[in-house]
Amino acid sequence: MISVVIREYCVRDFRDVLEIDAEAFNSRNPAYDVYIYLAYSSNFLVADIGGKAVGYIVTMDMGVDSKIMSFAVKKEFRGKGIGSMLLKEVIKRCKNKGKHRILLEVRVSNVVAQKLYKKNGFKTIEILPKYYNDGEDAYLMELRLVDNF
Ligand SMILES: CC(C)(COP(=O)(O)OP(=O)(O)OC[C@H]1O[C@@H](n2cnc3c(N)ncnc32)[C@H](O)[C@@H]1OP(=O)(O)O)[C@@H](O)C(=O)NCCC(=O)NCCS
Repeated sequence: MISVVIREYCVRDFRDVLEIDAEAFNSRNPAYDVYIYLAYSSNFLVADIGGKAVGYIVTMDMGVDSKIMSFAVKKEFRGKGIGSMLLKEVIKRCKNKGKHRILLEVRVSNVVAQKLYKKNGFKTIEILPKYYNDGEDAYLMELRLVDNF
């Protein structure tokens, strides 16, 4: 069984995260993406296997809420529960910080990610038409962390 540690991002993870981001999102400029994550993140966690980052999740604070900016696992490590571990840890940290909600956008075609979010309590609250550069719509999803706000 592989041993996965969820920990905070550190500078030596830069190249691994760059690779995961490029592979997952076909990004034209993954280095820019990672700089944005570093500049604006409130949580930047990686899944570490033997010193190598194989997945990451990034949130930013938006007042009383938090938003998932980016979340991906290296292709060869998907379907092993690593995404689920990252998501659960970020939910725990946002809860501990007293955040009211976690928000995220997901492509309507991204059924795998939607299933994972729903399994962890997220609900679709809005459709954002043509949200992505290629014209695809997004679902805006939320997880309520406190009952009344
Ligand atoms: C979404 C993502 C981070 C999930 O990571 P992961 O490590 O595969 O997640 P898990 O192993 O915890 O699996 C989550 C669920 O998806 C299922 N799943 C994972 N890979 C799958 C695949 N290729 N096909 C079908 N189902 C798959 C798992 O079976 C699991 O469902 P289950 O709990 O009912 O068994 C990963 O698929 C990914 O990096 N996708 C590309 C980037 C992306 O879409 N990010 C989210 C943007 S909003």
